[in-house]
Amino acid sequence: MASLFLPSASLLGLISLASGLAFNVPATPPSNASAQLSAAPVGVSLEFFTFPAYMNDVAATTTCLKNLKDLTGTWPPLRIGGTTQDRATYDPSSTSAVTYTVSSPSDAPSSLTFGPPLISLAANYGGSVILGLNRRLNNQTNSIAAAQLAKSEMTNLNAIELGNEPNFFTSSDPIANGASWTASADYASEVSWQEAVCGNLSASNIISAGVFFGTSPMSIAGLTSVEGNANDYVRDYCSHNYPQSASTANLATLMSHSSIASQIQPFAAEVSAANAKGKAHIFGETNSATQGGGGISPTFGAGLWILDYVMQSLLMGTEALYFHQGTIGNCQYCWWGRYDMGSPYFGAYFATMALAGADQIAPLDDHTTNYAAYAIYKAGSPVRVLLYNSDYYTSGTRSSQTYTLSGLASSSVTAKRLTAPYATSRIDQGQNPTVAGQTFVNGTCTIQGTLVVETATASAGSATFTVQASEALLVYL
Ligand SMILES: *[C@@H]1O[C@H](CO)[C@@H](O)[C@H](O)[C@H]1NC(C)=O
Ligand SMILES: *[C@@H]1O[C@H](CO)[C@@H](O)[C@H](O)[C@H]1NC(C)=O
Ligand SMILES: *[C@@H]1O[C@H](CO)[C@@H](O)[C@H](O)[C@H]1NC(C)=O
Ligand SMILES: *[C@@H]1O[C@H](CO)[C@@H](O)[C@H](O)[C@H]1NC(C)=O
Repeated sequence: MASLFLPSASLLGLISLASGLAFNVPATPPSNASAQLSAAPVGVSLEFFTFPAYMNDVAATTTCLKNLKDLTGTWPPLRIGGTTQDRATYDPSSTSAVTYTVSSPSDAPSSLTFGPPLISLAANYGGSVILGLNRRLNNQTNSIAAAQLAKSEMTNLNAIELGNEPNFFTSSDPIANGASWTASADYASEVSWQEAVCGNLSASNIISAGVFFGTSPMSIAGLTSVEGNANDYVRDYCSHNYPQSASTANLATLMSHSSIASQIQPFAAEVSAANAKGKAHIFGETNSATQGGGGISPTFGAGLWILDYVMQSLLMGTEALYFHQGTIGNCQYCWWGRYDMGSPYFGAYFATMALAGADQIAPLDDHTTNYAAYAIYKAGSPVRVLLYNSDYYTSGTRSSQTYTLSGLASSSVTAKRLTAPYATSRIDQGQNPTVAGQTFVNGTCTIQGTLVVETATASAGSATFTVQASEALLVYL
């Protein structure tokens, strides 16, 4: 373990405090702290048809998930679903996890079947699993048969989805029966499917409901208003969120602390609606940008977005976020692939480091600037502070922000840094991010390199830290 001794006294001398930021770290969680956090809020969503291939054919998958488990003691929660869950039919006699044909390996199948081995593979995962089943094709008997096997075999079954992003269903989908697919049509369909599935399973508290992309025209607020007693069948209400698309792709906006606050703001009412029904809210599928991502998705800045988006979503009251991993070999925002690691994984890893073992987080800033600071609490006391400078850095002189933290109980603190050459850095272009000086081996996801832990001395309970543009620092109190 190497140590970089940060001479805090000389830093204080060199940098004008007037231009820096100062935050007191409250000794107990302040009034705007989060609710109790779950053990592993940073999860992964694997596209339905390609879940078996991720598990069986991509060597990095298990290690990338285990690296996160090693930080928290809990395997990251998994969701198996996406567009192809609503193209899938269960075949109880199939000896294959999935069966489909595609004309190019970069395509997703337009139709597929899955067999009991898919459920067994899901049952073997060490963490909890949300399983996405088909509603669009309107074969309730079929989805119930798959749900029954999942319930009997998966001791790790967290919830079942009945349809993916039904806001995109159309009148030509079998579920619509030729009628136009409106919000009220979907809400009625969700409730009746919950009743039928849970009636056959003799189960409650098991449906991940809603599963809407965005907040309009279908919303959790709307769905909960008609759930009635079926709310008992629901384990959580689920939103999907992709802040950008290829046509709007703007990395500076994606990763900006204040822009993240405004981007997620519409979901606050969804969280409230779920909580008012006594249920959790989750982002069951999320990532940086739809339609391939417009080039911003594989970058380090997208990893910084993950870091701050996770913190702000948890503060808003979301229980967990499941970052989507799509078609292997054709997935800009993926955290890993068969050959290379993806820069966004570093943000997920750092977020998990920040949250490991924590009970609550609290915002120290007001979410209106590019500079974030979060206090992280365990058993009522601050254990870490996360600092994030979301200024967008791509070339030239790299600016920095100084943060003076006061109220520190210890006279000596350590810190780990998340950095990369640029916000635009991509691993496949040779610009590797580092987390506390370390990287992950391409193809295997094994952590490698010498751990770099910085140290700072606190004087009268205060210490100053410098965070460069497009960088984050995790201070261990
Ligand atoms: C619906 O599923 C059942 C049982 O899983 C199957 O026997 C039937 O053929 C399916 N119906 C259609 C229209 O695909
Ligand atoms: C079980 O599922 C069938 C087929 O969808 C449905 O008709 C029936 O009402 C369900 N049973 C219960 C007890 O909900
Ligand atoms: C949280 O509360 C602190 C005061 O305790 C305040 O300075 C900060 O701006 C607040 N942040 C948010 C996002 O509410
Ligand atoms: C991963 O491979 C890419 C080439 O595709 C290379 O640019 C990068 O430096 C490698 N990263 C590590 C950590 O070895």
